[in-house]
Amino acid sequence: MHPDVDSILISEEQIKKRIQELAVKLDKEYEGKRPLMVSILKGSVMFYADLLRAMSIPVEMDFMAISSYGAGAKSSGEVKLIKDLDRKIEGRDVVIVEDIIDSGYTLSYLKRMLYSRKPASVKICALLDKYARRVVPIEADFKGFDIEDEFVIGYGLDYAERYRNLPYIGILKRSVYEK
Ligand code: IMP
Ligand code: MG
Repeated sequence: MHPDVDSILISEEQIKKRIQELAVKLDKEYEGKRPLMVSILKGSVMFYADLLRAMSIPVEMDFMAISSYGAGAKSSGEVKLIKDLDRKIEGRDVVIVEDIIDSGYTLSYLKRMLYSRKPASVKICALLDKYARRVVPIEADFKGFDIEDEFVIGYGLDYAERYRNLPYIGILKRSVYEK
């Protein structure tokens, strides 16, 4: 285990198993369609890559980048678009793939923005849900795990751009960010 990790919250095996289950749900929901799977950079990349490979229906890929936290462990509530989608989404079924829903600022901003482009549908697939911290009312349509109010890292999630490549989701030691 990484020395900055307090404990492993979700193991590689648990992540893998849950992604298989989510893929089955998505395959069913979008059967006969070709959803546009939108990865929110950078936190969702591991989840996105594993989820899409677990799905059997045809999908399309696109990417968006949003700024939210900077280097801190708390959301500013300020959301800024850094990279937009490459193509139009009018009439498309869009699935936003996100690492975690915390305050909900990021996803409510994104959902509103994408809806204004007249897609057929916009749904949210989030690996983690930290419901205790929600400020804006927003729910995931597809969800991996509910977690407590702890700062987590790994499997794409970072603290100050570190720990993204850990294969599991761990709780970051408080001593790392409370210096
Ligand atoms: P929200 O806008 O507050 O819902 O925040 C969403 C974003 O904050 C996520 O996409 C993450 O990048 C980041 N975030 C929230 N909680 C955590 C955490 O526990 N670890 C790492 N990143 C987090
Ligand atoms: Mg982040």
